Amino acid sequence: MQTGLRGRDFIGDTDWTREEIETALDVAWDLKRKRALGESHALLRDKALAMLFFFTSTRTRGSFEAGMAQLGGHAAFIESQTTQISHGDTAKEIGEIYGRYFDGIAIRQCDWNFGNQYLNEVARHSRAPILNMQDDVYHPFQILADLMTIMEKKGKDLRRKKIAVSWAYAASYQKPISVPQSLIIQLTRFGMDVVLAHPPEYKLMPRIMAEAEENARRYGGQFSVTHDMDEAFHDAEIVYPKSWGCMLTTSDLKESAQIGEQYKSWICDERRMELTASGGHDCGYMHCLPADRGLEVADAVIDGPSSWTYDEAENRLHVQKAVMALTMN
Ligand code: CP
Repeated sequence: MQTGLRGRDFIGDTDWTREEIETALDVAWDLKRKRALGESHALLRDKALAMLFFFTSTRTRGSFEAGMAQLGGHAAFIESQTTQISHGDTAKEIGEIYGRYFDGIAIRQCDWNFGNQYLNEVARHSRAPILNMQDDVYHPFQILADLMTIMEKKGKDLRRKKIAVSWAYAASYQKPISVPQSLIIQLTRFGMDVVLAHPPEYKLMPRIMAEAEENARRYGGQFSVTHDMDEAFHDAEIVYPKSWGCMLTTSDLKESAQIGEQYKSWICDERRMELTASGGHDCGYMHCLPADRGLEVADAVIDGPSSWTYDEAENRLHVQKAVMALTMN
């Protein structure tokens, strides 16, 4: 267990070593157990978290806010549009000023080619830790919750367990690429066999791909890429099919929608689940939510016995409480 995390930012998944991630998970299980037993765990009494949102949220907002209350502190919900950011407050000013008011600053800023830079600029000027509630590159708390869920279902030794991280078709909006990117760099650090599947236009960032390849080499798993969703699902123990935008191919939203329409067959349905381990009987279905039902996933799968989505969403609460307790105390 690694202690000494007080004051540390959590912006990129691999900013924390594997041992530090294991520490966060260990604390998360302890806090989950305490909540189940009704044991008080007010570790952040009198502390305050700023939650600065530039983008909509259901789970992230709810779980950070509930988590701070359960830890005995307070979370302030701040929407960028109702602040003076829209009239010129800079990232430096937010870091300098909110860093003096608050004990932690959590930010969701997903704008392509901007969000991650914004978080890092705030971090350079803040005396309080910066927590990434999702940017254009990473969604680290989602993947920490996913890791916790996979370990609960499959055991803590994840070496050589196969997960298919696949693109799926959606029509609602151009979803960020941060979830698949965070998945491939974090899960390869735990020795998993990660297969990434996507149509050719839906590439991820080259430096993230290189990091996943290096992790697979270092930690004894595999990392491979296919343009065939069925191939990725074959014998997988876990599938994580979700949509993301083709930001690396085009910035034109109309062109992006036209590209996506060629791949409407990329849905996680019962036929595809049967391709997975033991004909679908030994495979978990994961999605960070929100999902486009009937497009990304069939109701029979997301509402079926293989679906881990509610446990996955619950674990956001426990991992975030763990990281806040470790960094903001
Ligand atoms: N998974 C996730 O981040 O959900 P929200 O967008 O609702 O916060």
